Amino acid sequence: MRITKFVIPEIIFGVDSLGQAGSSLTRLGAHRVFLATDPGVREAGWVDKVLPHLEEFGIEWVIWDDVSENPRDTEVRRGAELYRQESCDSILAVGGGSPMDAAKGVGILVTHGGRISDYAGVDLVTRPLPPMVMIPSTAGTGADVSQFAVITDTGRRVKLVLCSKSLVPDISITDPLLLTTKDAELTAYTGMDALTHAIESYVSIAATPLTDVHALSAIELIAQNLRASVGSRDNLTAKVNMAMASLKAGICLSNAALGATHAITHQIGGMLDVAHGTANAVVLPHIMEYNLIADTERYSRIARAMGERVEDLSTRDAALRSVAAVRDLARDVGLPVVVAEAQRLPVDCLPAMVEGALDDVCLVTNPRDLGEAELGELFRAVLSLPVEDLGQDPLHSGNGLA
Ligand SMILES: [Fe+2]
Repeated sequence: MRITKFVIPEIIFGVDSLGQAGSSLTRLGAHRVFLATDPGVREAGWVDKVLPHLEEFGIEWVIWDDVSENPRDTEVRRGAELYRQESCDSILAVGGGSPMDAAKGVGILVTHGGRISDYAGVDLVTRPLPPMVMIPSTAGTGADVSQFAVITDTGRRVKLVLCSKSLVPDISITDPLLLTTKDAELTAYTGMDALTHAIESYVSIAATPLTDVHALSAIELIAQNLRASVGSRDNLTAKVNMAMASLKAGICLSNAALGATHAITHQIGGMLDVAHGTANAVVLPHIMEYNLIADTERYSRIARAMGERVEDLSTRDAALRSVAAVRDLARDVGLPVVVAEAQRLPVDCLPAMVEGALDDVCLVTNPRDLGEAELGELFRAVLSLPVEDLGQDPLHSGNGLA
């Protein structure tokens, strides 16, 4: 058997676990914390709820919320300057994937120097980062437990994927109460991101028995709870189950990695500021259809985990039901079936996106082989582009980004 590894942070989970932030940071030796968050989380009052727990342990803080929905290299550079100026010694992120990934980027720059693009790829972050505690405010990203960070290179308009064990936070605190202040749309697309993590990691060629059990459980929890979680902010049972699903899916993506859906949506997200989870909801069924023949058995188990009745079906037919189940779920929670923003793509950007996907670390673990031609076809399908020769035609006329 090949060698497998399984890395996770210390995990604290439960309603009101937010109160553990101060004691967690103290155990890591923190005195002056760099608190990364975003304006929405601040506005919802969660930062104000954390601060007394830091005060209780004599921890000082510097708040940084200058982070976009798709965090940028320029923001990370400014964050690192602030961290140094303020002589911080640790990191606390409270928020969604954006502040968590950006905080990891700041941690890299203050310990390793250079530019964030120097660390795109696998295992290029070689030394420890500052002590890191992360409190996710959405049920989707998995950044609070993962060895990944995704940051936009604004010069090249691509998403940089950084993967290193040093990026695994020390402590992850999941308090499902934070999910009660999120609107339906955000709940829907972050939930579909979590589902994409669970499905891609389950069919990944790097999946192991340790990730399989969490992946199938996450798929089941999402199929059973995402609709209700989108339906009501106050359904705490659905919130707790979605928070657990996101945690499990995050553990899986970190240890089994992802696949072609993320390799493609990273390129779309680099070109357009679309929500990552929305792009995944559009792309995932296309990739499932493409990948199906590589492992029909696993896709049939995904269908079963999603609650489909597959007992009397052949493995192939059962596998196909998994795609229908994902499309039904995305539609039920109100997500689009096409990337509407594709109309704003620059002319002739397709070759660059295909090249970016080929270079994306997520492609390595996709269960079915795919090269330039297949990726071109898949990009055209998910972006509803005309079927013509790759790179020969303008994608859409006269509406390119500057
Ligand atoms: Fe994702």
